Amino acid sequence: MRESAADGPRRPPPDGLRVPPPAGPSRGAAFTFRFDGRQITAYPGETIGAALLAAGIRRLRTTRFAGTPRGLLCGIGSCFDCLVTVDGRGSQRACLTPAIPDAEVEVQDVPRAT
Ligand code: FES
Repeated sequence: MRESAADGPRRPPPDGLRVPPPAGPSRGAAFTFRFDGRQITAYPGETIGAALLAAGIRRLRTTRFAGTPRGLLCGIGSCFDCLVTVDGRGSQRACLTPAIPDAEVEVQDVPRAT
């Protein structure tokens, strides 16, 4: 049976914004990595960008000139709007970089150009 707006407010999904897995094999055991000091849950095969999006995090870097926030845009490695620092390596595309247990991921803030 489908829900309609008349059924009342929607309940939040049980796992943040992550799409529920299809019936069948398990998605694997969850693990965590850190993003700016916050524990983020991920599953095997997910990218850092997918896990952050599922956790409701959209700001991944700021622009050099205006300091405006950027995040996932294309999701396929073309736009470079999702650059983050992973274990000290800068300019990693969150949409392509697999999430790994215990990684330290940080927002990539570039000092403002003057
Ligand atoms: S979202 Fe475009 S390169 Fe990652």
